[in-house]
Parts: sequence; C-alpha cells; structure tokens
Amino acid sequence: MPSHALHITRSNKRLLRRIAGVFYVAVTIAIITVCLRDWSQTWRIVSSPPARQLRSVNVHTEVQHLKTPTPASVEKTGATTIKTEITKSSPVELEGTHRTVRVSTIEERLPLEHKTTLTSTTKCNQHYFLLILVSSAPAYFDRRRSIRQTWAVDSSINTRWKTVFLLGQSRDKNDTELLQREDAFYGDLIRANYYEHYWNQTLKIEMGFEWAARYCSFKFLLKADDDVFINPPAVIAVLNRAATPKDKLYMGHVYRNPRVQRTGKWSLSQEEYKMTNYPDFCAGPGYILSTDVVTSFVSIFGRIPQFKFDDVYVGMLAAKMGLNAVHVRGFQTPPYLSKTCVLYDNTFVRHGAVGQCLIDLFQKSQIKGMSP
Ligand SMILES: *[C@@H]1O[C@H](CO)[C@@H](O)[C@H](O)[C@H]1NC(C)=O
Ligand SMILES: *[C@@H]1O[C@H](CO)[C@@H](O)[C@H](O)[C@H]1NC(C)=O
Repeated sequence: MPSHALHITRSNKRLLRRIAGVFYVAVTIAIITVCLRDWSQTWRIVSSPPARQLRSVNVHTEVQHLKTPTPASVEKTGATTIKTEITKSSPVELEGTHRTVRVSTIEERLPLEHKTTLTSTTKCNQHYFLLILVSSAPAYFDRRRSIRQTWAVDSSINTRWKTVFLLGQSRDKNDTELLQREDAFYGDLIRANYYEHYWNQTLKIEMGFEWAARYCSFKFLLKADDDVFINPPAVIAVLNRAATPKDKLYMGHVYRNPRVQRTGKWSLSQEEYKMTNYPDFCAGPGYILSTDVVTSFVSIFGRIPQFKFDDVYVGMLAAKMGLNAVHVRGFQTPPYLSKTCVLYDNTFVRHGAVGQCLIDLFQKSQIKGMSP
C-alpha cells in the first residue's frame, strides 16, 4: 500500500537496508561455497586419475607388505611420493582396484627411513620384560610353528615375554606368498629388504635390533635361532637375580678371545680378517642384551664394518662399547652339547632342539616349572 510506504521513517529505511545487506552477503557466501565445492570435486576427479592414485597405492603396498624387495633408493622415492600426497590432502582414503589403503600421517610414514634393511613397522602394544628375537629362514615354516606351539607365547595374565621372527626376502615365489599369509595370520614376522643367505645373518641381526630399539619397549632382549629351545621363565628368573647386572648386559655362552679358524665352515682368509683372534663374544644361538645395549649398538651400526659371522659381529660391537661379556651356565650351545635331548635344572637356552626334541624339552620344563 503506497500510503503505508510513505510512513516508513528514515530509521526504518536504514534497518531495511542493513537487512538487505546481510542477506546479500549471505547469498554471496553461499554461492561461493557451492561453486568452490563443485570446483574442488571437479579438480579432484580431473587431477587424480586412477593411474596416479594406483601408483602411490602400489608403492605403499610394496613398502608395507614387502611383495618384492625394493632397493633403498626406490623405497625413499616411495616415501616422498606418499608425503607429497599427504600434504595435498591428509588423511585420505585411496581407492585401489583391489583394496582401499589409508594413507597415514607423516609421523607414521617417517619410520620408512630405517638405518638398516628393516621394512616392518609393527609396534609392540605393551612393555615386555623379555623380548625374544628368533633368527629364522623363509623355508622353515615348521620350525616357527613348533616354536609358536611351545615356548613362544607367555600365557600368564601379566605377559612378560614376546617372541618375534626375523626374516629377509625369499627368491622362491611360493615361499614369499606363504610368508605373507603367515604374517597376516600371526603378525609376528619382522621383515627386511635383503635376500636370505647364511652369510647375510649380520643384516638380520642389525634389522632385528633396529626394530626392537624403535618399535618395542622391553627390558632385556634375547636373540635366539629357530632351532633352539628357550625356557623363558628360567631366563626371567636369572635376569631377576640380584647378581645379574640390569644394564650394560651382554650375557650368554662366552667364547673368550677365540682363535680365527683358517679352514672349515667357519674359516676366514687372511684378506677377510687379519688378526689371529676374535674379541670375546657370546655364542649366536642364544644371548641376552639389556635394552640400553641394544640402543647403543644401533647407534654405532656403520662405524664397524659388517662381519660374515653375526655373533662375532655382536662381540665386536660390544668391544667397541667397552662391554664385558658375562658367561653363564645354562646356555647350551655347541661344542658342549650332549647328543641326547635332556633338560637340565639350569637350562635357559638349548641349541639343536627341533621337532620332537623341542616338544619334549618344553613339556619337561612345564612339569618342572609347576613343582617349586
Ligand atoms: C609353487 O607352487 C606351484 C603351484 O602350487 C607349483 O606348481 C610349483 O612347483 C611351486 N614351485 C616351487 C619352486 O616350489
Ligand atoms: C645378501 O643380500 C643382498 C641384498 O639382498 C644380496 O644382494 C646378496 O646376494 C645376499 N648375499 C648372498 C651371499 O646371497
């Protein structure tokens, strides 16, 4: 009504104008938002064709699942690709043809830059008094199964020990696939990016120690082999003794300053090793390190040339750190090994126990453990 309109005062006009202004701004913001969202969706579709996404997924899967061993340089490139992806839009669900891979945050990706050949980034989910690293080889599925069925797992409420298996890469395609399934099922394989060979054991030790130092919290580490019986409760008891040092500990069956052999399986030529004797070292099938020792060993990797024999190499690391190897009875390793499969009162570690012998030793230890 025109007469009504005439009655609008100056202040009313100002109010109306303000309302119109607010309305105008709101509409503009809404339009911009809608346009931006549309545009960004278009951009995402255009700028990330399946090829690009798939490539980064592939790199990720490769690094994570170790389908094929990649040299360190390729792994580095993989890490950077993923990082670029993250900075653009984090965290994102990437659609692969066969699976969806969640790209994790930068903190989770950093561990890819390992010092050793380690590729696993599995974390321990609690603190363990004793962490047991078992050097194994891809084809020994049965040995790992026997260990899992016997001494590997602490079934008490307060879990004191954990067992994991250290493995490199297999050249056998079937084994490679079986290993992936084994790991998916048990989640207790720690993998590295080198080909398994008896003389590549030092790489295994290094990656195992790095994994322990970076991804697990523990007080003592026991390095074992897959043909060894371990009596974890007895090991824990000896570690808890007042007389046992709680740090700077390097303990096992000690070979004192042994002579270098120039013939046979364990021989080295003059070119390989000039000196006549090795430093003290603990026999490889089973020895114990305190957590501080593991950390300092990892920090000096690379300062000592790698050595063919992994247990001698650990002796060299210990010598470099100025540690004294502590000898204890109960670490039964060759050449002081009886042919018969017997459990002594003080058996902590018994080398050469596979199949039925392992089961026998385990059952005997269970019975002994029950009687005070
Ligand atoms: C791998 O598995 C395939 C099919 O199961 C078999 O034919 C082949 O002989 C196996 N290869 C080896 C090296 O064991
Ligand atoms: C040890 O691993 C490296 C890296 O995978 C490999 O090139 C080499 O052949 C292996 N050594 C032996 C003696 O097989």
